[in-house]
Order: sequence, then C-alpha cells, then structure tokens
Amino acid sequence: MHGEPKSREELQAIKPYVPGKPIEEVQRELGISDVIKLASNENPLGPSPKAVEAILETVSSIQRYPDGNAFKLKNAIAEKYEVEHSNILTANGSDESIKLVAEAYLNPGEEVIIPWPSFSEYEFAAKIMGGRCIVSPLDKEFRLDLEDMVKKVTPETKVIFVCNPNNPTGTIVGREEVEKFLSRVPGDVLVVFDEAYCEYVNDDRYMDTVDLVKQEIPNIIVLRTFSKIYGLAGLRAGYALGPKNVIASIEKVREPFNVNIFAQAAGAAAITDADHVRNSRETNESGKQYLYREFEKMGLKYTPTEANFIWVDTGKDSRGLFENLLKKGVIIRTGNIFGFDSYIRVTIGLREQNERFISALKEML
Ligand SMILES: Cc1ncc(COP(=O)(O)O)c(C=O)c1O
Repeated sequence: MHGEPKSREELQAIKPYVPGKPIEEVQRELGISDVIKLASNENPLGPSPKAVEAILETVSSIQRYPDGNAFKLKNAIAEKYEVEHSNILTANGSDESIKLVAEAYLNPGEEVIIPWPSFSEYEFAAKIMGGRCIVSPLDKEFRLDLEDMVKKVTPETKVIFVCNPNNPTGTIVGREEVEKFLSRVPGDVLVVFDEAYCEYVNDDRYMDTVDLVKQEIPNIIVLRTFSKIYGLAGLRAGYALGPKNVIASIEKVREPFNVNIFAQAAGAAAITDADHVRNSRETNESGKQYLYREFEKMGLKYTPTEANFIWVDTGKDSRGLFENLLKKGVIIRTGNIFGFDSYIRVTIGLREQNERFISALKEML
C-alpha cells in the first residue's frame, strides 16, 4: 500500500485554538492543589442556581434525544427579547454559532474582515471554509476601528465580525459608531455582532443590537452565550438573534441535536435568573475597581474594561510572568498569542482570588 489520506488543503493554514490552561492540568503538572483560574472569563460565582436545579430535574430524561428545535429554550429567549422563534438560532456555545455562520455564508476565496487582537475563532471559522481573513488592527485605545473595517470591504467581502465588547481588550464601540458603520456596509455583507460579554457592559453608549433584529435589518446577526455571566461554560450553550432569512440559512447547516438537554434546560432557567445576573455584575464591578486601584498603585497601564477581564501592560515578558504565576497557582492569559508580549489578560475573580493574583504579581514585578 502506498500513500496516505490527504486532509483538505485549507487545513494547512489552521492553527489550533489555545484554550485557557485547565486547573486540573496545573495541579497535575506542578503538584499544587490550590489553583485559581483567571484565564477564560468564566463566572467566579458559579452557575445560576436556577440552572443547576433545572439540570437536576432533567437528569432522568437523558435516554431521550434533546428537542432539536429547543422549543422551551427559544420560548425563554423569545420572551426576554420580544422576538419570534424564527429570529433565534440555538447553538453549542457561540463557538458553534461562529462556525455555522461561516459554513452557511462563506464560499472558498471570499473575504472575512476580522479585528485584531480579537477572538481567534473568527479566523478559524473563516479558514476551514477556505475564506480569506482581512485583518483590521484595533486603534490606539485598543478599540475596534469600524472606519477601517468598512474601508476594507471589497466585492469579495462576505462577513464582518464585530466583537463587542472585544476580547481580549474589554473595549466597546458605541451606538453612533455602529450606526454609521452599518449605513456604509453593503447589504450583501453579513455583520456578525459577537456580544459574549454584553451583560457586563456599563457604558450607556453601548448599542442594543436586538433593536436591529426587531427592525428587520437584513444583514446582521447577534451572537450571545450562556458561558459568561450565566456561568454555564461547561455545558456549551449559546444563541443568535437575527432576521428570519439569515437564521433560516444557518439552520440548514446546523446539526439536529446540537444543544444537549441539560444545556437547553439550564439556559431557559438561567435567562430568567435576574438575581444571579445582578450578583455577577456587582461582583465583577467591585473586583474591577479593586484591580484598577492595585494596577495604578503598581504603575501598570490597563485598558478600562466593559467586560469581566482586564487587558494589562505588565512591562515584562508575559510568558515568563505566566509561568511564575502558575507556580503560585494562578492561571492567567498571555498577550503574546496576540502579538503583545508584555500584556496579560486577567479575568476578574472573587475578592480573595483577585487579592491572591495581585500579591503574586507584586512579588514578580
Ligand atoms: C468574544 C467571544 N466570543 C465567543 C466566545 C465563545 O463562547 P462560547 O463558550 O459560547 O462558545 C468567547 C469565549 O471566550 C468569546 O470571548
């Protein structure tokens, strides 16, 4: 026998996703038991208690397939946002929504405009479909440069990703900028608003893009997730809101049972849990103010955040810092994967976690 099966040409260009280092891995590798993870923007308060209850109630039904149309989950989402079921896509996290958008809209060779530094899954999704990524650098304040993004539109452009708030910088673009941008984007280009952290935003310039869905703007889609403020990252549940035609196209590439029954039940419960959302916002806000104060005392430049993580310039090589923090049982993310060697991204944790991070950081700087 000669030769071997060749995978698709497009896969050559794909770099594997680098996830936040899991707590168990650090415990195994370094033999320390007390480890905190401030690396994946998870909710330090844990899941919505209502979601946990809903999961327990569902346990005895797992011999059944999930509802392929996620009726109850869509009902809960439809009620919250006053949209129709036909405006809603449910997905195995926003990661899946991003991939489904690419599968439904991208032909090989077509262009996708992505901000940088930003969430790496846009590039991944574009590349697996043979799309071409056109990168738009953030501005000096680490905000998306919507002017630049719209200037990069060509007849080959198919999709633009707008990460708002942006990961890893926590910055937002406001209503005025977004409206101006949308008025200049051609109607045959799909604008994807990835709003994984929208529930944390305080800035009242932030735009409610669900209004665009209600106005039936035909070329937008809004991605939301249960992984962040709702504390359900391990379940994998997300959703997208968009005009009926866009949702219907994406439905064609969706697997029939993409959202498992726990994720459906938990998502439907969590979205009604206003107490948990409020507590999570308050915990985030006080942690944010504490970290700002400490960074200022240390003379470190940080980017004011509208999310649950902070982008900080440590002035040092972030890889070395990462390794040293690991030895102290603190996991953060380094900026070098984005080309910013002295930056780190730290998730805002509980008070004691933030204090532990700061005291470890102080020792190192
Ligand atoms: C901007 C952004 N979009 C999407 C995701 C993926 O979220 P999910 O867990 O729903 O797949 C993340 C997760 O870190 C993110 O930061």
